Amino acid sequence: METRLWHPFANMAEVKDKPFLVDRAEGVWIYDTDGTRYLDGTAGLWYCNAGHGRAEIVDATAAQMRRLDSYFTFGDFSNEPAERLATRLSELAPMEQARIFFTTGGGESVDTAAKLARLYWARRGEPQRVHIVSRRHSYHGTNGFGTSLAGIEVNRDGFGPLLSDATRVAHDDAEDLRAAIERIGAENIAAFFAEPVIGAGGARPPEPGYLEAAAKICAEHGILFVADSVICGFGRVGGWFGVERWGLRPDLITFAKGVTSGYLPLGGVAAAGHVADVFWEAPGSLVAHGPTYSGHPTVAAAALANLDILEREDLPGRAVELERPLLEALLPLREHPAVADVRGGVGLIAAVELDGELLAEHKGIAARMQLAIRERGLIVRVLGGSTLVVSPPLIITEDEIGVLGKTMAEGIDAVLAG
Ligand SMILES: Cc1ncc(COP(=O)(O)O)c(C=O)c1O
Repeated sequence: METRLWHPFANMAEVKDKPFLVDRAEGVWIYDTDGTRYLDGTAGLWYCNAGHGRAEIVDATAAQMRRLDSYFTFGDFSNEPAERLATRLSELAPMEQARIFFTTGGGESVDTAAKLARLYWARRGEPQRVHIVSRRHSYHGTNGFGTSLAGIEVNRDGFGPLLSDATRVAHDDAEDLRAAIERIGAENIAAFFAEPVIGAGGARPPEPGYLEAAAKICAEHGILFVADSVICGFGRVGGWFGVERWGLRPDLITFAKGVTSGYLPLGGVAAAGHVADVFWEAPGSLVAHGPTYSGHPTVAAAALANLDILEREDLPGRAVELERPLLEALLPLREHPAVADVRGGVGLIAAVELDGELLAEHKGIAARMQLAIRERGLIVRVLGGSTLVVSPPLIITEDEIGVLGKTMAEGIDAVLAG
């Protein structure tokens, strides 16, 4: 029967008759409704850092629901789990006196950061600073600002006029950022948004020195540096906020996904003290922004339990230990005639980009490979119709990484063999 569920990022004409029903999950494995198991090579959508089926998170969630299911935090309302989580995140954030604004996901966090950046300048008497710069290949979610900032062209197409004060620069060349700033005028720019490792735009680790140089250029021009760590945070590339390994100290950091390992939807923005103080030290100045479920106590309880696990098992450290083995499991594919590039080595994110001629000659071949790989027991994703990407739970073992590499190669070969 045709589904009534409208899937995101889907061509419903193609999937409406055959949804792939996931029934349960445990550790690094998911199971379909026939009981067939698959290695969750993508940790869901880059979020399940702690792995599936953690009773500790489930119990914390249930206990909180029994006590206080939900209550809002607008105005002076608050609750203990939200307070505890904000304090804990503030202590972990690589910023002085960080304050934490909660949302319900990454896209909302990006929009929150963009609005806070603009408001920050307005409150500081520079209301013309509205322009936002982002990078080509970047993904910042599908809300209003995030859609406008998208460096993946297709994600902006067809929606009519978007934010006009948005500019994209080369993803790997800090001089291009400098040139754009000179063109636009630093006095008109509110912020620069950058994913530490570009995720959905093709799993692209930064060129050595790029992020540091970009942050320095922003600082020189007084432009707020916003790290979009929605994917990179909570261990995925090591560290808590996805920027520590480069020694970055952003003005704002967006996060989501791994903060709860996806057990419940949570996102947020960490704002450095010097940004937050503009609002926090100004009585009578309302910030008219915030989603209903900001500071949701049950979601916060899930996040706290998840952080306990990430900390206790040092999963951020584990991601760094395993980044090389993950890349090495895929590197043999670099010699494969169907493959243009293999990327990875910075955190548990890796990608296999298919050869351009092959893609041009065989429309939809990447999707067929994804399916063939799934039929062999491994979940991978296709990005941009050209790239197979993996980002497994941080609890994956080296043996399982071996299985991942082997299964990926087998699926690719099966499609090529016709
Ligand atoms: C870097 C980045 N920013 C923002 C988002 C949007 O997050 P959400 O899908 O939770 O709105 C994503 C989602 O993948 C992301 O990767």
